[in-house]
Amino acid sequence: MKSKVTKAIFPVAGLGTRFLPATKSIPKEILTLVDRPLIQYAIDEARAAGIREFIFVTSRGKSALEDYFDDAPELETALRKKNKNELLQELKSTNMESGAIAYVRQNKPLGLGHAVWCARRLVHNEPFAVILTDDVIAAEKPCLQQMMEAYDETGGNIVAAMEVPREKTSSYGVLDCEREDGATVKVKGMVEKPAPEDAPSNLAVIGRYILTPKIMQNLNKLKSGAGGEIQLTDAIAQEISEGNPVYGYRFRGQRFDCGTKAGFLQATVAFGLQRPDLKDEFSDYLTDLMSMRQAAE
Ligand code: UTP
Repeated sequence: MKSKVTKAIFPVAGLGTRFLPATKSIPKEILTLVDRPLIQYAIDEARAAGIREFIFVTSRGKSALEDYFDDAPELETALRKKNKNELLQELKSTNMESGAIAYVRQNKPLGLGHAVWCARRLVHNEPFAVILTDDVIAAEKPCLQQMMEAYDETGGNIVAAMEVPREKTSSYGVLDCEREDGATVKVKGMVEKPAPEDAPSNLAVIGRYILTPKIMQNLNKLKSGAGGEIQLTDAIAQEISEGNPVYGYRFRGQRFDCGTKAGFLQATVAFGLQRPDLKDEFSDYLTDLMSMRQAAE
């Protein structure tokens, strides 16, 4: 029988070099899309998917991230005094229950696989989700929830997948699928960052996973064997080679790569335009800006 997935790992121990100098003192996950930090989008998505235990893999310099989820009594009192009830509710919705979040440390940035492995003792022998906060997904039904529904049908390992232009395959892990139809596809191979001519498809893996505990054992072996970065993709590929099921899930929604400046800006515009309190003023501004640019050309 399939066990219910109630734990999610959030690897947030990377250096975030693409956002320097901001990330010199601010964790990348605290950067805000409109007025919510990236990590809040990830937590909301996990909660909607039934996650109850949130495991953060952190590193040096991430204390702002840890503090973010605490109650903020002084702020709450100030808002209450000023009758700012809506803001108060908003603020309270970001508090996490005591004990719901666990932090483990990755003492060296040895790669995503290594970061996930650092959480092995908290995951025990249960299936778990992994969410990369860089990948923000705008969707009617949150992406991880869609994947949980697929998991209820299939069990096994599931990775979120999306079509990318062929010339971009070298930026992603790419799936080799048995059959290409439908939302859930059985995977027979995974290639990390292939050149377009070597890519088995244009179906790329993005930052949402539901994984069996066996992945931790695979990471264990990789850890003792490898010298450089330890890749999560390798641990998943090992499952395929041992005949254990791995599926790609084509989610419905739009993914923004907030680990890059261009992706972050695109997400800011898209989320700003969705906000009822901002959209009119913001879209007027964008329209004016575009016509001024066109006139100048
Ligand atoms: P990235 O490849 O985006 O690396 O990691 P990064 O360090 O965050 O950013 P850049 O490339 O220097 O700008 C993908 C995810 O894996 C986590 C990151 O925090 C991010 O969520 N990660 C990566 C770790 O937790 N530990 C690592 O050793 C590497």
